[in-house]
Amino acid sequence: EREDLAPAAEVLAGARRLVVFTGAGMSAESGVPTFRDALTGLWERFDPRSLATPEAFRADPALVWGWYEWRRAAVARAEPNPGHRAVAAMAARVPDTVVVTQNVDDLHERAGSAGTVHLHGSLFAPRCSACAAPAPGPGAEPEEGRRLDPPRCGHCAAPVRPGVVWFGEALPEPALAAAVEAAYRCDVLLTVGTSGLVYPAAEIPQVAARRGGTVIQVNPEETPLDAVCAVNLHGPAARVLPALVRAAWGAAADV
Ligand code: NAD
Ligand code: APR
Repeated sequence: EREDLAPAAEVLAGARRLVVFTGAGMSAESGVPTFRDALTGLWERFDPRSLATPEAFRADPALVWGWYEWRRAAVARAEPNPGHRAVAAMAARVPDTVVVTQNVDDLHERAGSAGTVHLHGSLFAPRCSACAAPAPGPGAEPEEGRRLDPPRCGHCAAPVRPGVVWFGEALPEPALAAAVEAAYRCDVLLTVGTSGLVYPAAEIPQVAARRGGTVIQVNPEETPLDAVCAVNLHGPAARVLPALVRAAWGAAADV
């Protein structure tokens, strides 16, 4: 059904300091395997909570590295969807826009949102598991379900690890601080495609609301964030976001 976009469009058109906060639903229409449906082949017998942990990597680096390299290759084959492009178009209209994502893909960047804040790291930022030195870019195209020995760090020879926040790990402090600061000072926060269940990321929209910011949600389902949002658009990001940008700034908004 066509949502009445007018209230949300009016808020967005008047935004001076905008935060766009996104989760896995933002990339769903790009065909990126979500965290849980990436468990196929060799990995299908694993529960995500058991694979995305420092313990799993220590126990079997090739199993975990192979899985993340396969996910990274899957993301590299995917394309940003019209929702990602609509987010980039918003920043062209609201210069003070900060994109904060829980996703580990690079689709916001590939759609033009440079400077995206990654609260849970990125598949494209592998680093040394010991000295944290950044490691080189994508290796060979991994085969699905195959183990893959991680490369060794050029400085200290320890295994390279995925640059993703695992279960039990703290979030990268600089990213969390940048996200909280942006939520603290924004006048509008648009939350898209997140279940709002995982902390501390789920705090971000609540910080904006507590500080008097207007929160708009785009998600086909209800979430705990319904409680803090002023406008709730129940639809898929790739359809709703371009329509919202056109409603806010007219057809010239090139989305
Ligand atoms: P968890 O609850 O065991 O760990 C949460 C971690 O976040 C804690 O270790 C703590 O350091 C930190 N934390 C929790 N609440 C906080 C708060 N209020 N303020 C500051 N720091 C806080 O495990 P989890 O929450 O299920 O997952 C941990 C993180 O790993 C989450 O951010 C989750 O989204 C992320 N994760 C990422 C992937 C991926 O592939 N991107 C997969 C699984 C989990
Ligand atoms: N458009 C918008 N939202 C969508 C779409 C879509 N096309 N498809 C699904 N959604 C919504 C779902 O309704 C759900 O609320 O996206 C949300 C996805 O929720 P999760 O799978 O929990 O993803 P996310 O909120 O990003 O999870 C947080 O937990 O798994 C860890 O670290 C991982 O970053 C992830 C974190």
